[in-house]
Amino acid sequence: MKKFGLTAIAIAFAAGVAGPALATEKLNYYCSSQEDWCQLMARGFEEATGIKVNMTRRSSGETFALIKAESANPKGDIWWGGTGDPHLQAAEEGLTEAFVSPMRSELNDWAIRQASSAGDKTIGIYSGALGYGYNEEILKANNLPVPSCWKDLLKPEYKGHVQMANPNSSGTAYTTLATIVQLFGEDEGFEFMKGLHKNINQYTKSGSAPIKAAARGENTIGIVFMHDAVKQAVSGFPIKVVAPCEGTGYEIGSMSIIKGARNLENAKKFYDWALTAAVQSRALEVKAYQVPANQGAETSPSAPDLSSIKLIDYDFAKYGSSDERKRLLKKWDDEVSVLPQ
Ligand code: F6P
Repeated sequence: MKKFGLTAIAIAFAAGVAGPALATEKLNYYCSSQEDWCQLMARGFEEATGIKVNMTRRSSGETFALIKAESANPKGDIWWGGTGDPHLQAAEEGLTEAFVSPMRSELNDWAIRQASSAGDKTIGIYSGALGYGYNEEILKANNLPVPSCWKDLLKPEYKGHVQMANPNSSGTAYTTLATIVQLFGEDEGFEFMKGLHKNINQYTKSGSAPIKAAARGENTIGIVFMHDAVKQAVSGFPIKVVAPCEGTGYEIGSMSIIKGARNLENAKKFYDWALTAAVQSRALEVKAYQVPANQGAETSPSAPDLSSIKLIDYDFAKYGSSDERKRLLKKWDDEVSVLPQ
């Protein structure tokens, strides 16, 4: 019975017969992934259903803040993509809606665990490991050593050569902060962030901006998710990808339905559609090399192999909790970002 239901959903979406929708049907879609992938999802859903998609793309922390600011009068229906921590915080703060999709049985355990830990108010859609990438031509031109560990990034010779995003706006940078604290302990972790601050040339708003800047030759080392660095490398830029020697954290990119969504049924349609293997396989069209949640989705040989990377046992329950995320961000604002460089 269950199998029949899933097949019917898959066929309906594949054939684009989930619509046609009424001319007034729409979906307000908040996206926290890369612009090209966000667009592909928006246009793909419109084509599959006839539902008009209004898209707003912002980084993970920014989208969380937007949904919170709008909570008395919600404007968004669905939030797709971005790191899982702020999705978990949104769930805890009652900003998102519980939903159990019939597609769930096709997903990897880690995607379902993300849902179970949040009372089904969010779900994992992809996963990816944190690391950094560097422009090997700029590195050579500046006679800089090749970095391979987190602690290498503290070397004085890298002053002005390292870029990361601001952890308040970016999920990538919050994952970095939480990873460093889990790897080295809180005291040593904050000493690390203060040391790193001396070498940072700019804190960007978006998580992937530092590696795009490195690809363009405007920065040397970018702390990003490894898949974002791979994307630049396979696009032909002189970017090398590093899985730091001490080990590293990872994300469970997530999706949540916004509480009070005005187009709730369309949000649920998008949710089911976005979890299908066919839709998740389309990530490869835009060189998005995260590990897909759907076990049947295609992956690329270029994608970072998570099983070969030393991953920490990232504590999503703790670092995605409202109190801990607020506390760490405030501490970073008060003790790191204000220091002279
Ligand atoms: O799409 C790339 C990506 O790195 C995702 O894997 C991640 O969830 C998201 O961007 C994080 O973006 P930001 O750091 O800007 O919140």
